[in-house]
Amino acid sequence: MYVMRMLDPNSRWKEAWDLIQALAILLASIEIPVRIAFQPELTGWHLTAEAIVTVLFLADVGLNFFTAVPHRNRLITDRRYVARTYLKTWFVPDLLAALPLFLLPGVWEAGRMVKTLHLLHLNRLLKLTRVVHNIVDWQRHQLINAGIFRLVFVGFGILLIAHWIACGWILIGGVGPTAGDLDTYVDALYWTITTLTTVGYGDITPDGRWEKLYTMMVMVAGVGCYGYVIGNIASMLANLDLVRSAQLKKIDQVDALLKYRRVPPMLRQEVKDYYEHVFESHATPQDEALLAELPLALRAEIALVTHRDFIHKVPLFRAAGEEFVRTIVLRLKTAVYPPGALIIKKGEVGDCMYFIDNGSVDVISSEDQHVYTTLSEGDYFGEIALTLSQPRSATVRSRDFCDLYVLYRRDFEEALEQFPGFARHVRRTVKHRFRDIERRHARRNARQKSTGD
Ligand code: CMP
Repeated sequence: MYVMRMLDPNSRWKEAWDLIQALAILLASIEIPVRIAFQPELTGWHLTAEAIVTVLFLADVGLNFFTAVPHRNRLITDRRYVARTYLKTWFVPDLLAALPLFLLPGVWEAGRMVKTLHLLHLNRLLKLTRVVHNIVDWQRHQLINAGIFRLVFVGFGILLIAHWIACGWILIGGVGPTAGDLDTYVDALYWTITTLTTVGYGDITPDGRWEKLYTMMVMVAGVGCYGYVIGNIASMLANLDLVRSAQLKKIDQVDALLKYRRVPPMLRQEVKDYYEHVFESHATPQDEALLAELPLALRAEIALVTHRDFIHKVPLFRAAGEEFVRTIVLRLKTAVYPPGALIIKKGEVGDCMYFIDNGSVDVISSEDQHVYTTLSEGDYFGEIALTLSQPRSATVRSRDFCDLYVLYRRDFEEALEQFPGFARHVRRTVKHRFRDIERRHARRNARQKSTGD
């Protein structure tokens, strides 16, 4: 027997499907109130659109029975569990929203929909709760910037509510006779906005019991929402880019301190450039400290994801097994060097080696500044002093801003022990580089001798 596979709720096409549903219901939430307000004749075109929406929503109900549900970081595919969860949560609103209620017997009279029964279309809007829930979920998964999302969400929500209130005002006959539908709508929206924002010019006034009651309700809602919205928007704008404002504050503080200590402007600019680069490459040590409390397994996962690009750049890592990469990434520390900085000085004792994530470095002889070689993204250096326990064999200087990963002696030795492949690779490079340095030394000595003679 053919059994349908359970769908992954995070798969591309399920996300696309949810997006289509969201767009359909957002359009409906704008169009249905207009339809209720103006009660146009439902022509064939309207009916086709309604049929499409019905099919879309019913298909969604069916699909939900075949979509795995996330539970504590796991996807549960058990059919019975999925069905039970759906029946208990979104099934009723989803199904009610999908029903083509306007096709009920008695809704139509002589080919025209009975006036008041246009309200039956409102069942579609039940689905809006689901869409709002989904959108909030996307936001939680950081698909959208939180600050911008809240602004757009609240802004759109206010406009939508104003639109509904305006349509309601038309329905109860609040707008006097005007030239056409568009003018009627603009008048109603104008009345809504002035009443909601408590401005109330009084040029459009309620007539009769129902209109007065409606106006009072909108006024009360307006007063309540006004303070909330204004207060919230101010804080949203302030928080829009919390990280960036914190970074700018830090740069300003450091610059003020340097100014106070009479550091020349050129040097201050260098410090600013350094900070800008560090913030851009997300390599601040504070970031690491922030994550230090997480359990090891979780940190390893995060490190694997955040270092994915870097790992691909380093041929040594690419060739090594998953286990090696998992062990090593957690031990790598980040370091940033501005252009022209001495990363390694020849003759010093070395307690770490470096991998280049971004930028390039020159390996130079300290005596005559001769450049042995230039290393760039994906290369490593500093391994000679570590493997042979001898002073640094050359000087290494950054050519531009360099993002490096540093591996310290203890971690390096553990990695050598645990992973013979890594050890072999490092030893081969050491031998090769050492031979290179010796050859160059010999050549230079010979040259010096011949010019001295
Ligand atoms: P170490 O001796 O620890 O410190 C200086 C580093 O420069 C050295 O390790 C090597 O990683 C690197 N290095 C030295 N000579 C060369 C070379 N000829 N080519 C590439 N890298 C080198």
